[in-house]
Amino acid sequence: MPVRAVQSMPSLLQIDSILSHLTGVEALGEVCRFLRHEFAHYRWVGIYLRDGETLRLAAWSGPQATEHVAIPVGQGICGKAARENRTIVVEDVRSAPEYLACFLDTRAEIVVPIRSGGQAVGEIDIDGNEVKAFDASDDRFLSAVAERVAALSVQVLPEFAAGRLPLRGGG
Ligand code: SME
Repeated sequence: MPVRAVQSMPSLLQIDSILSHLTGVEALGEVCRFLRHEFAHYRWVGIYLRDGETLRLAAWSGPQATEHVAIPVGQGICGKAARENRTIVVEDVRSAPEYLACFLDTRAEIVVPIRSGGQAVGEIDIDGNEVKAFDASDDRFLSAVAERVAALSVQVLPEFAAGRLPLRGGG
């Protein structure tokens, strides 16, 4: 189920509104929550921030927490997207040997880098429950979301990496 262009702009405006009202990890958590509730094929939405060679989960929204709150760069789909600084769309996680399993229902995944100065400083990670749940329209839309949360991600990272901010997650 693609993200239609007509849906994309109002959703980006909603995200701008969230970012103008909230700060820190709370804002990242609200962006995750908004995305999950706005798009039925986004079953679990997380934002990882890059702390050196580790991706740390800063915020998520979904039915369950994940055990993968820290992922080494290079490992899993998330680590691969960070190392290669590019979006990765996995049509069927059962055909991706590097996939780190989180949820039994997950069948597809998209990971989109959050960039600052061209470097991946974090990423948006979304799980879907259908094979081929994601396509280029999700990449385009989520890349626009990633641009919007980039400055906040850079701002939050030092305090989050130092353990002074809690992981923000829930439904
Ligand atoms: N599946 C990811 C790990 C994170 S969970 O999806 C929340 C991966 O392979 O990197």
